[in-house]
Amino acid sequence: MQISTPDAEAEIYTQGAHLTRWTPRGQRPVIFTSSRSLFVPGKAIRGGVPIIYPWFGPREGQPMHGFARTSEWKVENLAAGTAELSLSQLRFRVSVGLTLGMELEVHNDSNEPLTFEEALHTYFAVGDIHQVSVTGLENTAYIDKADGCREKRRDSAPVRIAKETDEVYLNTRAACVIDDPAWSRRITIEKTGSESTVVWNPWIEKSKTMSDLDPEEWRGMLCVETANVASNAITLAAGATHKMTVRVSL
Ligand code: BG6
Repeated sequence: MQISTPDAEAEIYTQGAHLTRWTPRGQRPVIFTSSRSLFVPGKAIRGGVPIIYPWFGPREGQPMHGFARTSEWKVENLAAGTAELSLSQLRFRVSVGLTLGMELEVHNDSNEPLTFEEALHTYFAVGDIHQVSVTGLENTAYIDKADGCREKRRDSAPVRIAKETDEVYLNTRAACVIDDPAWSRRITIEKTGSESTVVWNPWIEKSKTMSDLDPEEWRGMLCVETANVASNAITLAAGATHKMTVRVSL
């Protein structure tokens, strides 16, 4: 479905409640979606904002990154630049304007505690990945998934991307800013209810193994994911609700 407001336009698929576009008027797209994405049932759209739930990453015998991103969600509301979709105990709310607001709510409607991981796995469009830097993750511990899941600590320098990057930052609530000199812009990502941030770019070799990504598209994208994963997984008491929000602005 398309959402059009005086300030921006966006697009959301009911498969995965997957937002694939948010473009403030007069701007280049802020959200990257692959030109080779398949858009077929059962396969996650490549790009946009996949909703990762209830686990992050691989799980034996189960779909990578959980089932939410390939499930068909129900549209609950669509009005004046906002949308709300649901999938059993999940609700996803989007507001489209000069800022992009997203909220993922999980309600534990069972009688037992519920433990889960989650991510709004946002793909940002950038002019040239080689020139990009990300601030907000300085002096933070992370798991380096591109280096055997070794535990490391970022120093006081911004994150730069010069190779395959798959970094899971833990215990961080900070806003991140993607500085993109090639397109002369900064993307600010503010969040609440999230203790993890994942930074991902597949770079050259991994891209070649991904049939739904053009071999050159890694140059123009960067995932900065608002998440609760690994030791930041959430445990919700019976009847309790958790909300994770992201606010993206230029
Ligand atoms: C990232 C993970 O969040 O998603 C990576 O940290 C993974 O390890 C990437 O490769 C993309 O996953 P997928 O399943 O969408 O190809």
